[in-house]
Amino acid sequence: LARGAATGDLAGRHVVVSAGGTREPLDPVRYLGNRSSGKQGYALARTAVARGARVTLIEANTGMPDPAGADVVHVGTAVQLREAVLKAAAEADAVVMAAAVADFRPAAYATGKIKKKEGQEPEPIALVRNPDILAEISAERARPDQVIVGFAAETDDVLANGRDKLRRKGCDLLVVNEVGERKTFGAEENEAVVLAADGGETPVPYGPKEALADTVWDLVAPRLG
Ligand code: CTP
Ligand code: CA
Repeated sequence: LARGAATGDLAGRHVVVSAGGTREPLDPVRYLGNRSSGKQGYALARTAVARGARVTLIEANTGMPDPAGADVVHVGTAVQLREAVLKAAAEADAVVMAAAVADFRPAAYATGKIKKKEGQEPEPIALVRNPDILAEISAERARPDQVIVGFAAETDDVLANGRDKLRRKGCDLLVVNEVGERKTFGAEENEAVVLAADGGETPVPYGPKEALADTVWDLVAPRLG
């Protein structure tokens, strides 16, 4: 489908999706990373294009080719992701934060490769907090009627933790995944509950990431101003 297809419930809308996982460099050859594949974010971008939206995809370390019809911004770290999201969100109708953002980054970056020292234990790695992008864009909305969606992977008390996180982040919708074997990381399929700030709760049965993506847009579309 062509970009901004005239038909579809997202026609004329600009949506921003972040996908993948940030990498926080320690030195020129090493980083702290996570297992996010980016597949859910790509499914969100593809389905939004198919529904007529103008899509900005902010991609972090997925290694996947750019999806057709989306404007793609490539980033590496959480700080770079924040810059790109804030810029794109300034004129977006909806922002979906599907990326796994590193909570911490190394306090210092070594410009040369860190080397072993004979007979010595390694130095501990000091970390500092990264900015919370979702909380920031939710607290300072670029537009009052902008719809903001977060993701959360939880292992225990999935719904209670999800409700709590939705409130803390201040977003409109939170897609909560239960993490387990075969679920979420790198998988083709996903199972989730979408929690809404207005109290709504939409279960999404185990199935393709496209189906979850379409459910997200089904919930976003009627909330757009
Ligand atoms: N997120 C973000 N910036 C961060 C961390 C997370 O924007 N620095 C976003 C993620 O993209 C996701 C949502 O916040 O949409 C929830 O991420 P999660 O890691 O579950 O939340 P945290 O607040 O970091 O909680 P936890 O301590 O459980 O990791
Ligand atoms: Ca986190």
